[in-house]
Amino acid sequence: MNVIGISGTPRKDGNSEILLRYALKPFENNGWNVKIFLLSKLTINPCKACDLCRENGICIITDDMHGIYDAFRWCNAIIISSPVYSRNVSSQLLSILDRHYAVNIERPLEGKVGGAIAVGRGTCGGQVITINAIYTWMLSCGIICVPGELNGVTAVADKPSDILNQENRLKQAEILGLNILNVAKQIHS
Ligand SMILES: Cc1cc2nc3c(=O)[nH]c(=O)nc-3n(C[C@H](O)[C@H](O)[C@H](O)COP(=O)(O)O)c2cc1C
Repeated sequence: MNVIGISGTPRKDGNSEILLRYALKPFENNGWNVKIFLLSKLTINPCKACDLCRENGICIITDDMHGIYDAFRWCNAIIISSPVYSRNVSSQLLSILDRHYAVNIERPLEGKVGGAIAVGRGTCGGQVITINAIYTWMLSCGIICVPGELNGVTAVADKPSDILNQENRLKQAEILGLNILNVAKQIHS
């Protein structure tokens, strides 16, 4: 079984990336194949709306998105994390969500299982909006959204790695991963 994690922060050691790594731990412990995509390292350009993908199902932009298209097909589960930017997902992550448009006819994520993580500086800084933006995208791709302890994982943190001081949030991220893993297992049993 295969899981992918997409980290939407452009920062090294971003808090949202750290939570994503905690959410992926249960998969590693259960022998799943785990692939993580760090938007701090990849180049994903925005969709140009050329619509050539509507003719041949292939995006003509040559960048790292093609590895993510393959991962969409390969995975059984997907977890996405984002920093809160302007009360929404990061623009780096939004490019990925938009670029799914090119494979929407193929529906590579249909029936798969997913979860979301959002970290912002402010209390009520837009974490819930960010989680819901990810959920809305997941639902439109046919992904079954799985909650963590309460909902998706939201957290308040600012400087890189600050989240490591919040044991409770790290635990909640692991619970999110475990819940996704259990639903995926049930679907495939
Ligand atoms: C361009 C930009 C916009 C931001 N907008 C918000 C915001 O609307 N609400 C908020 O709570 N924090 C906002 N922040 C703060 C980040 O969400 C916060 O630093 C968070 O820890 C970043 O996640 P990361 O550590 O995974 O990179 C913003 C930061 C930047 C750089």
